[in-house]
Amino acid sequence: MESIQAIKQRFGIIGNAPSLNRAIEKAIQVAPTDISVLVTGESGVGKESIPKIIHQLSHRKHNKYIAVNCGAIPEGTIDSELFGHEKGAFTGATQTRQGYFEVADGGTIFLDEVGELPLTTQVRLLRILENGEFLKVGSSKVQKTNVRIVAATNVNIFEAIDKEKFREDLYYRLSTVDIHIPPLRERQEDIHLLFRKFASDFALKYKMPTVKLTDNAVQALTKHRWSGNIRQLRNIAEQLSVLEQNRTITADTLSSYLPKSGTNLPAVIKTSKSESDFSSEREILYKVLFDMKADLNDLKKLTMELMKNGDTKDVEKDNKTLIQKIYGKNKEEETIYETPQESEVLSIAEHAVDQDEIIDVQDKYHFAEDIEEEETLSLHDKELELIKKSLERHNGKRKLAAAELGISERTLYRKIKQYDL
Ligand SMILES: Nc1ncnc2c1ncn2[C@@H]1O[C@H](COP(=O)(O)OP(=O)(O)O)[C@@H](O)[C@H]1O
Ligand SMILES: [Mg+2]
Repeated sequence: MESIQAIKQRFGIIGNAPSLNRAIEKAIQVAPTDISVLVTGESGVGKESIPKIIHQLSHRKHNKYIAVNCGAIPEGTIDSELFGHEKGAFTGATQTRQGYFEVADGGTIFLDEVGELPLTTQVRLLRILENGEFLKVGSSKVQKTNVRIVAATNVNIFEAIDKEKFREDLYYRLSTVDIHIPPLRERQEDIHLLFRKFASDFALKYKMPTVKLTDNAVQALTKHRWSGNIRQLRNIAEQLSVLEQNRTITADTLSSYLPKSGTNLPAVIKTSKSESDFSSEREILYKVLFDMKADLNDLKKLTMELMKNGDTKDVEKDNKTLIQKIYGKNKEEETIYETPQESEVLSIAEHAVDQDEIIDVQDKYHFAEDIEEEETLSLHDKELELIKKSLERHNGKRKLAAAELGISERTLYRKIKQYDL
């Protein structure tokens, strides 16, 4: 059996806390069996390595390993993604499609954020766990698969069970063996170790000398609550590596990068899905605004298409992904294809639209996509980036940039001064 140290090296796992070692040991022990494993732990603690270890050390290693983020797939699509669908099962199902459970036959499926699965999908999953049987969406033919399931969840799952959003029987089926990854604040001995590793990685990446912490800064780093765990620690290491001219980081400098609230508070575990990925409420609000803006841009693009073409069936086809993105797939049949919407759309189409405007709106749509990739940047960086991009796109024309950003020209002017653009 490979030693814990060898496994850590192979999978790039840093840290020596006994609790982390125990989790890895458990993964090694359970790997050769077909037992279902539930990995638990807060967001950012490193749950994703465990199913990889289990798969690689199992007899399934030559077959497929598929990781599915259950929280990221729209409710209306998830059954078809997991179990496949028959041709004609729903509008747009032009061909029979294999789902992950069929593709991964003989291999392993990692169901990340399993607590997010809709109840109907949970029933299907339970059946697979019980006897390997499943049905494609729109089919009545029972199929068989032999897949090992490793699932992961943050502590939310108990709340979900309480609220009857997650089946208790499924929970017990999934968690035959439970591997818990403790939060970073409970493995303080690993914090500085991880920081040094990240700092040296980022120094290489950005071709700059490695940042080093003073003793006081090490203390502050170790005492911090790290509600976003290792993911958050890595972000901070990256920010310091990129932004700090003075490569010796003092406790003061460090603290300016750490979220103010909750620094030394006892560990109150808040478990909302994205909470730990965002260090402050402001940032969460910012994310909400971004998502709203992206949705709005999607809607604008769709409206433009409709105004241009009028023929809603074609528009529907060409913009399938967009429509699903905006409305969620489960709603498409009830909402998108209803006639009242068509008549509404037709009345809008009577307005004249000039070509420039259309291009402009499409640009905005791409613009919205750009934004989504930048979640790791800090708030100010995000804003700065947005303004810069917008100005570039409009050759420095403030009026157009302000309109695109949805702010007044005056506010934009103020921001330009503030960021010294
Ligand atoms: N022990 C560790 N050593 C090095 N990097 C780690 C470790 N644990 C987590 N990471 C890194 O932190 C990030 C978050 O880990 P991840 O497994 O995605 O967390 P979770 O799934 O629990 O939210 C990933 O980029 C991962 O590579
Ligand atoms: Mg994860």
